[in-house]
Amino acid sequence: MQLGRGNVLYSAKKGFLWGRITEIESITMRIYPLTASSSAHLQKVSALFDQWASSDRAHKMADGHSLLMETLLTDISIDCAAKSILDLGCGTGKFLVLAAAAGFPKTAGIDASVQMVRTAQQTASSADIRNGHFESLPWADQSFDQITSIEALYYCPDPAQAFREISRVLKLGGRFDLIIDFYAESQGTASWSQGLGFEIARLSTLEWVAIAQSAGFQTIQSRRIVNPDRENRLREWAPSVWYPTAKSYENYLSNGAFWLAA
Ligand SMILES: C[S@@+](CC[C@H](N)C(=O)[O-])C[C@H]1O[C@@H](n2cnc3c(N)ncnc32)[C@H](O)[C@@H]1O
Repeated sequence: MQLGRGNVLYSAKKGFLWGRITEIESITMRIYPLTASSSAHLQKVSALFDQWASSDRAHKMADGHSLLMETLLTDISIDCAAKSILDLGCGTGKFLVLAAAAGFPKTAGIDASVQMVRTAQQTASSADIRNGHFESLPWADQSFDQITSIEALYYCPDPAQAFREISRVLKLGGRFDLIIDFYAESQGTASWSQGLGFEIARLSTLEWVAIAQSAGFQTIQSRRIVNPDRENRLREWAPSVWYPTAKSYENYLSNGAFWLAA
């Protein structure tokens, strides 16, 4: 595992480590009205993942994210015995099962796909799993010590609003971790929109950092997770709509996943 490649510590003007600005006066939940285009986009996303959840594709996808999940958990599960965790885009619930096993006593998840929510409720039966979307999280202000999101936020029609919501439901001094394979610097993933059949947010790492800063996060770390097995994986490449050339697959593997910790 190659961890921390290109580690960069962004802006920490006067914040304490992992510190952030939050509006502590407000404790009521707000409903954020989706625009017609956001709503149409979310319908496409949930229809796709409803389909995946109805086949073995969802579990295969979750297993394919094992390295990301385990790497993240190793980093966040120190002193987690009294901590609550929310996973955004929880899919099958696999990460919530691992988080509970690692010691998080209170686990929660949200997903736009009704079928994924049903699967997650069976897989992670002790977790509070809700159907909904990131732009309007159905929890009160400062509900969680830790929020995570693995391979989900680029599907979001309004990432800036999602970050405002993350900032709202995160406790003061809490931590948010975002992990994504799809970002502008990872040129090998450029065809993913074609594979999915709709556009997804192709932002650069600096654009994600800027969104986090606008939502009030002060100390933001940018990291990468690169699969140590990429030579073997490269040998398995076959042309597909996702990776039309061996070069695109190689580029995807060597860039790895972008990990923002704030
Ligand atoms: C690629 S899957 C990843 C699932 C899981 N995190 C994993 O690693 O196996 C993305 C998930 O995020 C959900 N999702 C995408 N956009 C969402 C949004 N705006 N609000 C809620 N869920 C969303 C999808 O329904 C899907 O289950």
